[in-house]
Amino acid sequence: MMILSKESFEIKREQDFILFRNRAKEVAAKIGMSQVGQTKLITAATELMRNMLRYADGGTGIMEIIINNNVKGIRLTFADTGPGIANIAQAMQDGFSSGNSLGLGLPGAKRLSNEFNLQSEPGKGTTVTIIRWKNGS
Ligand SMILES: Nc1ncnc2c1ncn2[C@@H]1O[C@H](COP(=O)(O)OP(=O)(O)OP(=O)(O)O)[C@@H](O)[C@H]1O
Ligand SMILES: [Mg+2]
Repeated sequence: MMILSKESFEIKREQDFILFRNRAKEVAAKIGMSQVGQTKLITAATELMRNMLRYADGGTGIMEIIINNNVKGIRLTFADTGPGIANIAQAMQDGFSSGNSLGLGLPGAKRLSNEFNLQSEPGKGTTVTIIRWKNGS
């Protein structure tokens, strides 16, 4: 796998979502991702950015164009230095929320992505990485 481009964004408030989403859509369109694929990508990104604002004090969003076996994709990484997640399996369940919400953000983001990775350490923070390939399902 190779990284073809990389951009970083501070995500500190809800207004920051707009810039990130617009750029993600632009970059996804540039590699030829379908409209549906673009929408899945930015919907997942929105959930992960919402979590960074809600459960941490915001964080960083990284946007990369990657290529693997001649197939391009977009990799998004959301990293915060918030409280972390003690029980990741529980957090990934549909309907689990520590914040009286729907508890659909993380499992939804996973379903909307072709690849999903969550790493978290209590007291250190949380990093979620998602990939959508150009022609991903
Ligand atoms: N960045 C994060 N830092 C710390 N805890 C997190 C973070 N993201 C998610 N969590 C924990 O994982 C739980 C599940 O997250 P998820 O996004 O699925 O649901 P939610 O945010 O509670 O509700 P919804 O996203 O449906 O509004 C959260 O309630 C929270 O406890
Ligand atoms: Mg959420």
